[in-house]
Amino acid sequence: MYKIAVLPCDGVGPEVVTEGLKVLAAAAAKFDVKYETVPYDVGGDRYLRTGEILPDSVMAELAQVDAIYLGAVGHADVQPGILEKGILLKLRFDFDQYVNLRPIKLYPGVETPIKNKGPEDIDFVVVRENTEDMYVGIGGSMKKGTPDEVAVQEAVYTRKGTERIIRYAFELARKRAKNNTLTMVDKANVLTHGHDLWTRTFAEVGQEYPDIKQEHAFVDACCMWFVKNPEWFDVIVTTNMFGDIITDLGAMIQGGMGVAASGNINPNGVSMFEPIHGSAPKHAGNNVICPIAAIAATGMMMDHLGETELGLAIDNAIQLALASGKLGDLSTKSGVKTTEAGDLVASLV
Ligand code: IPM
Ligand code: MN
Repeated sequence: MYKIAVLPCDGVGPEVVTEGLKVLAAAAAKFDVKYETVPYDVGGDRYLRTGEILPDSVMAELAQVDAIYLGAVGHADVQPGILEKGILLKLRFDFDQYVNLRPIKLYPGVETPIKNKGPEDIDFVVVRENTEDMYVGIGGSMKKGTPDEVAVQEAVYTRKGTERIIRYAFELARKRAKNNTLTMVDKANVLTHGHDLWTRTFAEVGQEYPDIKQEHAFVDACCMWFVKNPEWFDVIVTTNMFGDIITDLGAMIQGGMGVAASGNINPNGVSMFEPIHGSAPKHAGNNVICPIAAIAATGMMMDHLGETELGLAIDNAIQLALASGKLGDLSTKSGVKTTEAGDLVASLV
């Protein structure tokens, strides 16, 4: 019996999470997998109502669950940064979810803006470091609001943090067995301290993986290759900030933010699964957001919990739904309701 904490949070989060849970319920019934969900009221509304973001009591409960399923964070009436740092980054950091796993896979029937590329070309995984870099919040300002203002935001990389994410990515490249290639994406030609650490660690850890081809791309060139030759990629490992940026581009080439899912993984602790899209407040409550990314996140979650068949069944149902052409262009203008898309996938598990 799995215990899954559900944090729908803000904007369209609750709508897409409802559909994800609908599909999970259908699939779990089929495979006779038992789980309970524990909903948590966190997010912008609670913050505006009570001033609380993520109380210690909630953190203590979350530490006991098997997995966390999250919708989206960000509220139109709350200053940017408060909820992002107070909820999403706090969960990633406090639970040491050091892997942000972001598959970039174009499914048949889904349109990509990249001319002459199809599902056989766009199929790779970005392993984004998830606990360091500029995200740690170290830095400060002086003379704020004056013409002499100074702002410093530090990028922090540790040997331990770099090594563990690189090792995870090598293992994944071996497990995927696509073309046994791991590409490190960095900016070592400019960030000659931090990304030198990455370069040396990659080379050292790489010696343990002679069966994996080791490639390297600077982050700017990586963006070019995503568009020009996405078929070159198998597994990518990169820093937190670059991973954030390139996976939005990745989401677009796999058919849009409506399909891109992710896992925030602590291989020895509590992991969290979410769509990579944000809370899209202007679409909230309109039943127009494509829930495929949130549904795919439940598949990743069950796979992570060891329910491989269940994860595959959810993924398969998504593929059938997408191939049916009944989901339109997956945008908010597709004419397909969020709830209808969820019903369709649930009917196909
Ligand atoms: C993401 C998001 C977050 C990030 C924001 C909301 C803090 O963009 O999950 O990609 O930057 O990691
Ligand atoms: Mn992002």
